[in-house]
Amino acid sequence: RRASRPLSRAASRRRLYATAPPLPEWETLGFNATPTARMIRYNWSAERGWDAGESSPEFTVTIHGLSNVLHYGQGLFEGLKAFHCKDGLVRVFNSHANAARLQSGAERLAMPVVPPELFDEAVDRCIRDNVEYVPPYGYGGAMYLRPFLFGHGEKLGLGAAPHYSFCVIASPVGAYYKGGLEPIDALVVEGFDRAAPRGVGNIKAAGNYAPDVLPSILAKEKGYPVCLYLDAATQTYVEEFSTSNFIGVTAEGTVVTPTSPSILPSCTKGVVLETARRLGMRVEERPVSFDEVGGLKEVAACGTAVVLTPISSVTRGGTVHSYAGFDTIATLYNAITSVQQGEANDALGITRVV
Ligand code: PLP
Ligand code: COI
Repeated sequence: RRASRPLSRAASRRRLYATAPPLPEWETLGFNATPTARMIRYNWSAERGWDAGESSPEFTVTIHGLSNVLHYGQGLFEGLKAFHCKDGLVRVFNSHANAARLQSGAERLAMPVVPPELFDEAVDRCIRDNVEYVPPYGYGGAMYLRPFLFGHGEKLGLGAAPHYSFCVIASPVGAYYKGGLEPIDALVVEGFDRAAPRGVGNIKAAGNYAPDVLPSILAKEKGYPVCLYLDAATQTYVEEFSTSNFIGVTAEGTVVTPTSPSILPSCTKGVVLETARRLGMRVEERPVSFDEVGGLKEVAACGTAVVLTPISSVTRGGTVHSYAGFDTIATLYNAITSVQQGEANDALGITRVV
């Protein structure tokens, strides 16, 4: 028998990717699932807590048919991005905010908390084991990371699940909508609400998204790529878009964004508002009445997948509010994407080299 020798870096890399899917065409990436080499999975048990986790080329998850996540929606997910920067390093953007949001969701849905160190470890492992799939600098793409936490195992009555798993899957992505600063049209959803006032709209619960599939399909059929929800109780205040928060710029240049207990607190929005403040802009976080929307100078959708996407119009029933010129949004977009790509100094200290 041949004595086993330690693998060289190149050989271990070849082995890691031996059966892995081919690399995508970087130029044509949209926001689609592109296969990568490995998924990371940690399992939790009441006796031992979180295990050491494993990295596997297997992307299927086998769970019992009576799992909480399938019947009772006990599941949470996150979304964050990593970038190949100008200096050749790979950095993950703003991950502490996603770790904190997952923690608050786990507490609300009575699931075991993923400690921030474990969240970082899982995300970094997923990036490293799929590093070939991080779009190279200069293509405008990113590696989208999708952490998810769910309750599973045989269970019939409503209560805590016997098992929990925390996984991370990576996919290289391009733009969610048209890309860059190309504006899109929004439609205010009539007849459906996104989240109840004291429900779970403020956490990234998997079950918040299924109810939006139908309104989004109906809006797209009418030519609107994005839906805007108003508050469920009175239909008078702006809540958020299907997959992103609402940012407006007033005629005076103030950046305004709605507060509400049923909005998902966008991690990207935190960075956008802090960047705006540092650039000397006035920022207001407060309830935003729909009556104000027509008077805004600029409107944008803000989130990990959509970054800052300008909104060219907001239609509610027969009324259309249109926006042209997105100077403030463009300034903020450029400031944020240049930190993401490592072209500008990370003054907020929110990137981490992987
Ligand atoms: N609101 C909703 C409903 C979302 O799904 C997302 C996406 O994650 C956001 C807002 C934006 O949040 P973030 O900036 O953390 O991606
Ligand atoms: C994200 O921006 O990370 C999201 O989770 C959006 C997703 C619903 C497509």
